[in-house]
Amino acid sequence: MKKELQPIIWEDAKLQLIDQRALPAKEIYITLEDAAGVADAITKMVVRGAPAIGISAAYGVVLSYYHRQGNVELISQDFKTLEHSRPTAVNLHHALARLKKVWFDELESHGGAHGAFEAIGQRLLEEAKAIQAEDLEYNVAMAKHGIKSLKESTEKQTIKVMTHCNTGSLATGGLGTALGIIKTAAHKGFVEHVYATETRPWLQGSRLTAFELNYEGVPVQLLVEGGAAGLMASGEVDWLIVGADRITANGDVANKVGTFTLAVLAKQFGVKVMVAAPSTTVDMSLESGQQIPIEYRGSEEILKAAGYADGFDMPVYNPAFDVTPAAFIDLIVTEQGAVKPAQLASLFA
Ligand code: MRU
Repeated sequence: MKKELQPIIWEDAKLQLIDQRALPAKEIYITLEDAAGVADAITKMVVRGAPAIGISAAYGVVLSYYHRQGNVELISQDFKTLEHSRPTAVNLHHALARLKKVWFDELESHGGAHGAFEAIGQRLLEEAKAIQAEDLEYNVAMAKHGIKSLKESTEKQTIKVMTHCNTGSLATGGLGTALGIIKTAAHKGFVEHVYATETRPWLQGSRLTAFELNYEGVPVQLLVEGGAAGLMASGEVDWLIVGADRITANGDVANKVGTFTLAVLAKQFGVKVMVAAPSTTVDMSLESGQQIPIEYRGSEEILKAAGYADGFDMPVYNPAFDVTPAAFIDLIVTEQGAVKPAQLASLFA
């Protein structure tokens, strides 16, 4: 098995992000030195995936602190810029809230003391690194809980799964959420075949998931987006396993657009649905998925891919996410265990 891809690297007081838009053709790293650059990289999908967005934003705060020389007003502006970089994944807000708390606590405890500047910067960096390391720990725990549930669900010795978008090492602190479960189960010989949807329009499935599984030697078959119904109807899929960008208290799940379609199909054809996400993706402040802010992206992204000339305009309905109601989900797996959507609130009470 080859080494996992490293999407987020902190080195020499700079943030390096693998440009996920260029994969799989090229492995290029972009070096960032300020928060505005990080926010721009998040908006433009250089880095994507809910946990990876949160981790990058946390390092963005560290960059802001040094770049702005500790200036409270300018750093506060950078927090806002980072907060607005993408709306749906709540991990971004959880990470920024953690960094903000550390910053305020440190400012209060150090006052204007000599040497405070460097001490505060070090604490911010430690916190960003902790968020990244914890995410990997959560993924390992999710893989354990997820595989246990998959095994308990069947008498079969091996299963076939479908996944959507990219939820692997590229989208997280390492290993992955849904894809972490899938990869680990495949390495143990329990998952025998993975169908990865293309995931239009950004093709995270073809460009990243299929690439990542292939890179790690996991048997993967790329699935054209329109082929999911026929495939599920044929009985070739045991579980649909996906990630999440935000999960509300009632167990509704926002994830990459098309997840809802797949979950409806899964219900129709008796395929079970598992959602895997760390607690940093759970938003207990929202009662239901109707309250989740959904990102709508520009028409130019779609028209350009379709070959229209630059500047040509036409209305395009282009949501980046959709909300799958809890009723379509069998299990939600977090680092704390696997539960039915209705039990989520008591787990996080
Ligand atoms: O637009 P993206 O690529 O950021 O969307 C990513 C997804 O929807 C993922 O499924 C989700 O963030 C989980 S990543 C572990």
